[in-house]
Amino acid sequence: MRKKLIAGNWKMNQTKADGLALAKAVFEVASKEKGNFDVLICPGMNLLPLIAELPHEGVYLGAQDVSVAPKDFGAYTGDVSAAQLKDLGASHVIVGHSERRAMRHETDAIVKEKALNAIEKGLIPVVCVGETLEEREEGKALEIVCRQIRESVPSIATGENLVVAYEPVWAIGTGKVPSVQDVEEMHTAIREEIKSLLGESVASTMRILYGGSVKPSNAKELLGVANVDGALIGGASLKVEDFWGIAATQM
Ligand code: 13P
Repeated sequence: MRKKLIAGNWKMNQTKADGLALAKAVFEVASKEKGNFDVLICPGMNLLPLIAELPHEGVYLGAQDVSVAPKDFGAYTGDVSAAQLKDLGASHVIVGHSERRAMRHETDAIVKEKALNAIEKGLIPVVCVGETLEEREEGKALEIVCRQIRESVPSIATGENLVVAYEPVWAIGTGKVPSVQDVEEMHTAIREEIKSLLGESVASTMRILYGGSVKPSNAKELLGVANVDGALIGGASLKVEDFWGIAATQM
C-alpha cells in the first residue's frame, strides 16, 4: 500500500518573516493532527536553511531545484548541490517543474541528471511531468508525458528513492483541473510506463502525485482517483488552512 504524500511547493514566495511563520504553523498542525500520510514542504532557498533549524518532526523538507553538476562543491556560481541540500537537512528536491522546463529551458536530459544527482546523495527527487494545453488539445498528452517519464527518470530509480508528480501545465495556478477520468488515465499510463522501464515491483511502489490547482474543495475527489498517491500543491500551500484543509481530506 502506497502511503500518500501531501507536498507543498512554495515557489518564489515569502519573506523571512512570512515563511518562518507559515512553516511554524504547518509544523504545529502536523504535530497535533497526524494522519496516515507523509507531509513535505519545499520552501525557497532563502528559507530552507532557516526552516530546517526549527523542530519539524513528522514533516519532510525539500528544495525546489538542485544543481545539474555532479559535484558536491565547485565553480558553479548560483548552484546548490545535492550534497549541500542534504547537509541542510533536506530529504527531497523537486526537479523538472514545468516552470523550469519552460522558463529555464530544462530538457528531460537535464532533469534526469538532476534526479540522478539527488538520488546519489540520498535525496528523493520529485520528478515533475505534464503536458501543455496545446499538447492536450492535439491529443498528445499521454505521448508527451510518457516520453518525459522515459527520458527524465533515471534507471536507478525505485519506489523508495523517487517520486513522480503529474502536473498538467494548463492546470497550474489556473483553477482548472482535469476530469477525474483524465487524471486516472494519465496516472495509470505513467505507472505502466514505469513498469515497462523499471519493472513491476518499482512501478507498484512508486508514488505518483497529482499537481495543479489542488484545493481543499477538490482534494478528496482528486486524491481518491486510482493511482493518485498524493498532491503537489502550489498556491494552496501558502496558507496553512488551505494546505491542511487538503491534508485533512486524507484523515
Ligand atoms: P498550483 O497548486 O498553484 O496550481 O501549483 C501547482 C504546482 O505547480 C505545484 O508544483
